[in-house]
Amino acid sequence: MNESSPSKDGADELFASIFTEAGHDDPHDHWRRLREVAPVHRTAEGVFYVSDHQACQQVLRDPNFRAFGRNRLYGPQWKEHPIYYRLDEILGGMDAPDHTRQRGAVAGFFKPRRLEKLRDRMEHIVEELLAEMENGFDGNSVDFVARFALPLPVNVVGEVVGVRSMMSTPVPDLALHWTQGYDPAASAETLARADEAMDELYAYFGDLIDQRERAGATGDDLIAHMLATTGTPTGLSRAEMIPMLVTLCGGGFETTTRLLTNAVVTLSRRPDLHARLRAEPWLIPTAIEEFLRHDATVQFLGRLVAEDTELLGVPIPAGSPVNLSIIAANRDPKVFVQPDEIDIERKPNPHLTFIAGVHFCLGAHLARMEAQVALQAITRRYARLELAGPPVQAPGFAMRGYADVPLAYHR
Ligand code: HEM
Repeated sequence: MNESSPSKDGADELFASIFTEAGHDDPHDHWRRLREVAPVHRTAEGVFYVSDHQACQQVLRDPNFRAFGRNRLYGPQWKEHPIYYRLDEILGGMDAPDHTRQRGAVAGFFKPRRLEKLRDRMEHIVEELLAEMENGFDGNSVDFVARFALPLPVNVVGEVVGVRSMMSTPVPDLALHWTQGYDPAASAETLARADEAMDELYAYFGDLIDQRERAGATGDDLIAHMLATTGTPTGLSRAEMIPMLVTLCGGGFETTTRLLTNAVVTLSRRPDLHARLRAEPWLIPTAIEEFLRHDATVQFLGRLVAEDTELLGVPIPAGSPVNLSIIAANRDPKVFVQPDEIDIERKPNPHLTFIAGVHFCLGAHLARMEAQVALQAITRRYARLELAGPPVQAPGFAMRGYADVPLAYHR
């Protein structure tokens, strides 16, 4: 075993460069250089960052790398903040057997065959949003994020859980404030707002469940299903239903928004790709996989080591936090030929944007469907897209993607 020796190989400096303005704007080259010298990099604080694809896969599939207890990594004050202590209650923060049972209680809702029933409704939502987006066009540009990329996933998740037009409820705003609290660069004010937002989300969904129960909870949506099965061996308890609904909003909005904005920015900059997808729409599914790979929304995500282990020869003591750099793994040249290039026909494309293992994104098929329906409609409707101004990367380091995309379109 060899300890990583950052001072000798410059890995500390390379790692620090990721958290600079230049690293924020374009982190890929910084990760590439770090992966070359220290694919498993230990920081001075004893946190391990993994940028090698195979090592990330290994962590994701090994139960020795736990999801439960990650909130303890936020320091002794974790017990004072709802956004930290409630991580133990949400699916992504659990291990077996709780994770297996709770995921099993809702997994049927996210199976491709069931979601396909939503496709017509999704197409309808997309057409409506594109028409509204055009209403907002001032002759120069339209705000693609506010008019399309956010309302689409919000309203689609709303359909699944049983809240029509979720965009007109407080939920999207609260979900945004909540998830901003996890960013390593979050200020005290952002953290306080995130805590409040999480409490408000719990209260909102608690009230909604009460209302639906009083109304008899009929329907084909997730809330009706959870109410019908609660108290049975495969159902969720009432206390478990609320964090499940909160998680679906936290996990299903911003991530999908960022996928849609990344795709549209790429198509605006690459009219050749736009023309190709317009002429050959059957390439849209593989193009989406490539957009997911090329600029993953999630920069890194964490696990906690249960027992002493090692990764690529680097010893990792029990209790260590391990952060997987998904964006770096997705451009590992050992797995992807010409990783910095966009190849809309890339196959196979084993990117880790939805990760792997037992926590594989529950909403992956839903997100793929949304992106397919959206890109089909956009490339069919518009001959060309154009950026009316520079797109602005959202602040923060945990998630990546554009917060502001001024867009023009040409029929
Ligand atoms: C492009 C869009 C999306 C991306 C990039 C994405 C990414 C991810 C990632 C990386 C994880 C693993 C988190 C971890 O283990 O720490 C995850 C888990 C999860 N995602 Fe997604 N997600 C997307 C869309 C969605 C949607 C649309 C939903 C549902 C409405 C959703 C619901 C979930 C849930 C519930 C989990 C937890 C699964 C578990 O722990 O078993 N996601 N997602």
